[in-house]
Amino acid sequence: MDDLLYVDGGNPLHGEITVRGAKNFVSKAMVAALLGEGPSELRNVPTIRDVAVVGSLLELHGVRVDVDQDAGVLRIDPADVESPLVADIDTLAGASRIPILFCGPLLHRLGEAFIPDLGGCRIGDRPINYHLDILRQFGAQVDKRPGGIHLSAPRRLTGTKIALPYPSVGATEQLLLTAVRAEGITELSNAAIEPEIMDLINVLQKMGAIISVDTDRVIRIEGVDRLVGFTHTALADRIEAASWASAALATGGDVYVRGAHQADMTTFLNTFRKVGGEFTVHDDGIRFFHPGGDLRSIQLETDVHPGFMTDWQQPLVVALTQARGLSIVHETVYENRFGFVDALLGMGATIQVYKECLGGRPCRFGQRNFYHSAVISGPTPLSAADIEVPDLRGGFSHLIAALTAKGQSSVRGISLIDRGYEQFTQKLDALGAQFSREPGAR
Ligand code: EPU
Repeated sequence: MDDLLYVDGGNPLHGEITVRGAKNFVSKAMVAALLGEGPSELRNVPTIRDVAVVGSLLELHGVRVDVDQDAGVLRIDPADVESPLVADIDTLAGASRIPILFCGPLLHRLGEAFIPDLGGCRIGDRPINYHLDILRQFGAQVDKRPGGIHLSAPRRLTGTKIALPYPSVGATEQLLLTAVRAEGITELSNAAIEPEIMDLINVLQKMGAIISVDTDRVIRIEGVDRLVGFTHTALADRIEAASWASAALATGGDVYVRGAHQADMTTFLNTFRKVGGEFTVHDDGIRFFHPGGDLRSIQLETDVHPGFMTDWQQPLVVALTQARGLSIVHETVYENRFGFVDALLGMGATIQVYKECLGGRPCRFGQRNFYHSAVISGPTPLSAADIEVPDLRGGFSHLIAALTAKGQSSVRGISLIDRGYEQFTQKLDALGAQFSREPGAR
C-alpha cells in the first residue's frame, strides 16, 4: 500500500542529503510571477506537492508553467492570464493555503478573483481575517460565496497604511503582492520579516518594485505601473534542513545537509547546541551530529522571526524525548500544534500538555483553553507503534520517532509528507534508514 511505510527504527541516520528551495518561498514566488508582463524563471525548485498544486492553479488561470524537475527549474509565462471556471477551481479547493495570495495579482490583472476554500495543515483555526481586511483597505470588494470568496476591484487598488495585529507571514505576503502594483505608497507596520519574505521582496525588486524594509518591522512600498518577469534562485528550505538535523539528533546519527544555510537558521543552531547537538558549518551545507553522551533538556518558546520557528518545534520535540531532564516548550504561533504528541505518548514518551503559558512570557493563547505548552520528561526509550500522520510537520516528527524507536513501526498517511519534503524516502534510504512498503520485509 502506497500510503504506508514500515520503519525498522533504532539505527542512527548517517550520510548526506540535499535540500532545495523553501516550500514557503517557492509557492509565493510562483504567485509573484503572475504580476510580470513577461515570463519568469525560478531555480532550485523542489519536487513537492505544494509546488504542483500552485502550478495547477496558475494553469487554470491561463498561465503557462513548464517544469524541469531534475534541474529544479520552473518557467512561468503569464501572458494570457484569464478567469477560470469556478467549477475548475473547485477541484483545487482544500488543497493548499496559497490560493489566498492570488487575490492581489488577479485583481491587478483581471479586476476580479475567485478564491476557493483553503486547505493546509490543521494546526489551529488559521483564519484569513487579516488578508481580507488588507484587501478591503486597498479598495477591493470582498464577497463570501458558497465554496469560496469572490473579489473585485471597481477601480485601481490604492496604497494604504496598515498595522497588523500580529506579524503574520501570509498577511505580509498578501500586502506585498498587492501593494507593488497599487497606486501610491503603502506602509505596513508589525510586518513579518521571515527570510522567505525577504526573498520574496528580492524577487519583487527584480521585477521592478520599490520596497524598503526598516529595522522596526515597517515595510514601505511605492506602487509602480508595470512589473517585468524575474530570474531567481530560491533560498534553501530551513524547515526541511532543521527536520533532518532533528532526525540526526534523535537517532544519535550524523547527517550532512547540503544546501542548509547558516544565516537563516541562527536560532535553530543555538538551540541545537544547547540541547547537546553538534554542527559544523561548511560553504555548501551544515553537518549535524550527536556527539555522544546525554542530550540536555531546554526551555523553548516558538516565535516569529528571528525567534525559534514554529515549524522547527515538532521535529525537535522528538529529540527532546531523548534529553535528560524536563524540557518546556511554549508554542506561541499556533494554538493547536501539539496534537502530534499523542502518538509519541503511545510510543513511551512522557509529555504533558498544558493550557497555561509555561516557561516564558504570556502569549495570546494564555487563558483561552488551548493546549499550547508541553513539558517533556526524558530520556525515554521509544518503542515501535502503528502511527497515523496528522499533518506535514507532525508527520515528519512521527517518522523521526519511528526511526528512533526500536522495532518495526507502521506509519500511515505518509503521502501528506510529500507536500513539503522532497523525495523523503530516497533521502531516508541515502541515510541508511531501514524501511519498506511491506510489513516485516527487513
Ligand atoms: N492569523 C490570523 N489571521 C490571519 C492570518 C493569520 O489570526 O488572517 C494567525 C494564524 O492563525 C496564526 C498566526 O497568525 O496563529 C501566524 O500565521 P501566519 O499567517 O504567519 O502563517 P501562514 O502564513 O498561514 C506560514 C507557513 C507556515 C508557517 C507560518 C509561520 C506557508 C504556506 N505556511 O503560514 O508553514 O508555520 O507561516 O511561520 O508559508 C508549514 O510549512 O508546515 C507551515 C504550516
